[in-house]
Amino acid sequence: RDMGTPARSGAPVALTIDGIPVIVPEGTSVMRAAMMADVQIPKLCASDNMEAFGSCRLCVVEIEGRRGTPASCTTPVAEGMVVRTQSDKIRKLRKGVMELYISDHPLDCLTCSANGDCELQETAGQVGLRDVRYTPGDNHFDPSGTGARSQAEAKLRGGHDNPQFIPKDNSNPYFTYDPSKCIVCSRCVRACDEVQGTFALTIEGRGFDSRVSAGTLADDFFSSDCVSCGACVQACPTATLQEKSVAELGTPTRSVITTCAYCGVGCSFKAE
Ligand code: FES
Repeated sequence: RDMGTPARSGAPVALTIDGIPVIVPEGTSVMRAAMMADVQIPKLCASDNMEAFGSCRLCVVEIEGRRGTPASCTTPVAEGMVVRTQSDKIRKLRKGVMELYISDHPLDCLTCSANGDCELQETAGQVGLRDVRYTPGDNHFDPSGTGARSQAEAKLRGGHDNPQFIPKDNSNPYFTYDPSKCIVCSRCVRACDEVQGTFALTIEGRGFDSRVSAGTLADDFFSSDCVSCGACVQACPTATLQEKSVAELGTPTRSVITTCAYCGVGCSFKAE
């Protein structure tokens, strides 16, 4: 489904991935080459229609003769390259990274409307994560566990005081934004910029405090430059950005690809 940097059309380059020979055009990412060889590499921030970003670090691989474990989505292939996507070291690294993501993610999968249709959940299974060693401490969860819309409301509903908690943004009529479920992969921001060209979203803050924001001058999504195109919602690998209809009624059982008549650009989108 997605393979890092989009397909190229340069001179052919021969390499092996987990012992499987593959020939791809020059400039192709190792992740895409692996896909051509039918080798699955876990990933969260890569997407087929956007430039590779290299932020989630789940797609790390080993390359013979090179030090470290580069991200396969941002590493271009080279002639004669020998790539290993599985080893004890790589499995341990991926599991450790995923464990950190999950330690700051609500464990409400069974009641979450994205259950069964969540890339974070799927990838946690793919890397074999079963337990999280870290006890809840600093996290971004809603302290009341009720989807409160403000710190004050969360307190009123019986939660402990959590200064990291950022309330849900329900201002957009079509989708919700729940920062407690965000892994800051930046796919929504890049979809808004690269796919849609709206530039309404950004990442605010650094490190643990970083979060997706609908512009620094807007209070919420509705008052921002967002045009409600839904590109960010489609790009989100978790239930952070979610259509209100899905949040209320669950994942649709059937969908068709159609063309949006809204602005004449001709974008295809999934109608449910
Ligand atoms: Fe490569 Fe996220 S998929 S770093």
